[in-house]
This record gives sequence, C-alpha cells and structure tokens, in this order.
Amino acid sequence: MEITNIQTTPFDDQRPGTSGLRKKVKVFQQPHYLENFVQSIFNALKDFQGKTLVIGGDGRYYNHEAIQIIVKMAAANGFGKVMVGCNALLSTPAASCVIRKYNAFGGIILSASHNPGGPNADFGIKYNTGNGGPAPEKITESIYDISLEINEYHTIETADIDLDTIGEQTIGDMYVEIINPITDYADLMESIFDFDAMRALLGSGDFTMHFDAMNAVTGPYAYEILEQRLGAADGTVLRGEPLTDFGGAHPDPNLAHAKELVALMSGNNAADFGAASDGDGDRNMILGYEFYVSPSDSLAVLAANATLVPGYAEGLTGIARSMPTSQAVDRVAQQLGIECYETPTGWKFFGNLLDAGKITLCGEESFGTGSDHVREKDGLWAVLFWLNILAVRKQSVADIMFDHWRKYGRDVYTRHDYEAIPVADANELMDQLRDRTTELTGQDFDGYTVEYCDDFSYTDAVDLCVSSQQGVRILFNSGARIIYRLSGTGTEGATLRVYIEQQVPGDKGLDLDPQKNLAELIQLSKDIARIEKLTGRLLPDVIT
Ligand code: G1P
Ligand code: ZN
Repeated sequence: MEITNIQTTPFDDQRPGTSGLRKKVKVFQQPHYLENFVQSIFNALKDFQGKTLVIGGDGRYYNHEAIQIIVKMAAANGFGKVMVGCNALLSTPAASCVIRKYNAFGGIILSASHNPGGPNADFGIKYNTGNGGPAPEKITESIYDISLEINEYHTIETADIDLDTIGEQTIGDMYVEIINPITDYADLMESIFDFDAMRALLGSGDFTMHFDAMNAVTGPYAYEILEQRLGAADGTVLRGEPLTDFGGAHPDPNLAHAKELVALMSGNNAADFGAASDGDGDRNMILGYEFYVSPSDSLAVLAANATLVPGYAEGLTGIARSMPTSQAVDRVAQQLGIECYETPTGWKFFGNLLDAGKITLCGEESFGTGSDHVREKDGLWAVLFWLNILAVRKQSVADIMFDHWRKYGRDVYTRHDYEAIPVADANELMDQLRDRTTELTGQDFDGYTVEYCDDFSYTDAVDLCVSSQQGVRILFNSGARIIYRLSGTGTEGATLRVYIEQQVPGDKGLDLDPQKNLAELIQLSKDIARIEKLTGRLLPDVIT
C-alpha cells in the first residue's frame, strides 16, 4: 500500500502539559492538527520499526476519528502492529497494563481525563513509553520542539478499520489487533487482591457498595470485576455505560460531580462503601457511610494497610507523593522505616522511581493513587485496595480512618482552585511570589512563621534530570503549608491551585471541617499571594 507524504505547517501550541496535549475538540479537528502532533511523537522516537504500538482512549467525542487517523499514520511510519481496545476503548491504567504485558514499544492514549467531553468540550492525547507510563519530560519536550518545525507527515490512504470486532486485520504491512480491553486488566487485579475475602464480604448480606463510573470508560471494567468476578449485587455499578459526552456530566470523581453517589451514602439504606472513577479511569474517590476520605489520607491508609493485600504482603520498598499532596503518608513511611519521595505534580515523575524498584506505592492529592502494578494511576485498583482492606479489617471506612488519625495524627487539608484567570494575570501572580521567596522566609503572619519558602525544584533520583518551577511552597514552622501552582491540564485561561495543610494531633482532628479549621491559613493564602488584587477573585471556584 502506498505511503502518502502530506505537506504541513507547524502549530505553535503543541507543548504537552501535566498529562499530554489537551485542547478543545475543535482545536484538534483543525486540518493537520492531530496529524502534526502524532508525527512529532513518531519523529521523537527511535527504533520502533516493526514494533507494537498500543492505542486506546476513554471513549470521548472524537476518539474514533482520532484512532483511525493514528492507526493509518502508525502503518505509514513503519510500526509492525497496533493493538487497539475494542470499540476504541481502553482505560488509561488498562492501556498501561496492556503495554507492559505485551512488551509493546509504547502507546498512545486519547483522553482529557476528568475534563468534560463532547463537540464543544475537551480532547487530549499523550504518549506512554514501553514501561507503560507517561513519557518523561525529555521526550515530551522533544515532541514539542519537533512540532515547531514539522513540515510533513506520513499516512496511508485506505478504508477505515473495524474498531468494533475483536481479532486481527491488516493495513499495508502492519497488523491491527482489536483486543478485549477488560480481561487483561481484570486478571491483573485478581492477581493482586484477595478476591475470596472480597467475595465473602460482598456476599455476607450486611455489606453494600456503589461504584459510580460517571458514564465513562470504567463502566465495563467495573461490571466485570465487581458484579461478575466478585459477585456484587446487580446495580452496584452506577452510570456504567461509556458515553461520548459522559451524559453531559463532568466525569471528575469528587463530591461536587458525583452527587448521586454521595446521596446514596447517607440516610436510611445507605451503602457502606462508595467509590467513583473519572473519564479515563485513573482517578478515584472513596466514600464510607456519611464519610469522605480525602485522597491524601487514602494514600496514607493504603500504605499503612498494604500488607493486608496479597500483592503487597511482603511490604513496600518505598513511597512517593507529589509535592502538593499532604504529608500524611510521610509519617506512615517513617514508621515503616522506608523512604518517602516528594515529586512534582504529574504521574510521569513516578515512573523512574517505580522502574528502579525504589517505591511500591505512589499518589497525588488530585484523586490519584497507584502502585508498581502499572505505570499510571489506577482508579479501580484503589477501590479494590480499599475493598480488600474492608474485607480483612471488618470495620467501617470511617473507623479505619479514625484509627489511622489516632495513630499517625491528621493533616487537615484543602485545595482551592481559581479557574479561567487570564493567563497574564496568573503568570504575574506566580512571578511575584517567586520573586518574594527569600523575603517571605522568616516572616511572621499572626503567629504563622514562615520557616522556608521556595519554588520547588526536583532532581530525579534515578536519571538526575532537574525539573524546576514546580510550585511555590511556603512551609511554616508548625508544619503547616501553603502551596501555589498553575494547572498544566486546563484548556481555558489559567487555573491557580492553592493547597493548604495543617497537621493536628489525631484525637483532636477527628471531627474537624477543613474549611473551618484552616480558615486562618486560607485567608493567609489569599493575602500572601494578593489573589484579589491580581486576579479580582474573592473566592475560589472549586474547593476540594
Ligand atoms: C492535574 C492534577 C495532577 C494530575 C493531573 C492529571 O494536573 O493536579 O495531580 O496528575 O491533573 O490527572 P494540573 O491541572 O494540576 O496540572
Ligand atoms: Zn484521568
């Protein structure tokens, strides 16, 4: 089959952010836009001739069209085989699982994660390397550099492939294998967790759970694992059918966007355990009866209880958390006598630590938790981890959390997001904070004394690559922290994220409302950064 070389001109806005390139669907639909980026990925890679590329997506609007384009370009560029999730669906953790299991060269994941989908909403694309994880910065930067100079891309003009039938097809010399996206992932989960104990809990008659798939990609996985393999009652999975626009909903598993689930977790006949996952299946939210587990606390609980899970029975080698994630897990690591690494925001920074065996568990405050089983955060995995702990400990979610706080103390924590700020204003706010890091160090704000302030810079413990400007952190001598950074995943203006944390002794912290308990620090976070003056905003748009 003939390879066609198409002439093109560069776009200047294809720099991957925290997690790949995210833009409005309409931006991706411009002639050559997706093709330029895909060719830039291929040009940035070497030695993939004849090798296998995994392709999948979260099923959002434009997913099918994008996969057809990428498959043809992969054939024209010399891949030997592509493995594509049936119906164009592959959750992000399942894609990571498949890349690893079949020793693929790498993978392309089409997702804008928890951002809304539909013709006027968001789309995204990212490249994962052969370890199954997001490409490190040196690759994403090289993709960007190439995208600024690209002048042609290669494709094959041929009929679309059938994405909906499992089996093998060919395009030119390249095999196209349409795979069942569920089985490999479900088998991996079964190899990690105590399915017998979980089956016994779910069949005991006095335990109920709900899983909200948010009309997104995890529905089919959840049906298979929870209802089929673990015997959870029919109807356990809510909003289980993947829809291209997520039913008009925002597929972000938090208290604001999973209202139906939250309602099922209180009052008479409420469930004992509730959970949700996001658009592409890598995030999770954990709920108990009238109880919300913050993601930072969840990471700490998983770490402290890991040996109850067969897959981690030998213990953890180390733990990592992103810098803005609360320090709750640090104290668990300390008690376990293992290292706790602090990385910049974004899953790509965990990859080297996982590959080198330096850590087993890792997580972020943004509803992301994972382990060395894949190289992405993994929503259903986190849910099954909690279910395994519940099945062994036979306590409620709240009691497990209270026990944890009594033992380790509590980090009262909140994140305030100021969204859609004009980019220039947001940059000015960050610049003036950066300029004042030395001046702020040592200052006292009504009893809150700044012990240290810097713009976080990270040196990778394995390849020694340095990532700078990763967020301004203000560390108080009480252990409290305020952190500022700009989101790298948004598609409209800039989002300022402010993370606020204060440690309290466990017995005192049991019933604290973070917004009330942190009121002084929240006010301080506004004053220090002059948020109102520089952005005109009095209040954040989203609080988690
Ligand atoms: C956000 C989260 C970050 C996460 C990323 C991808 O990035 O804060 O922890 O890794 O989404 O899910 P941000 O928009 O803050 O750059
Ligand atoms: Zn996601």
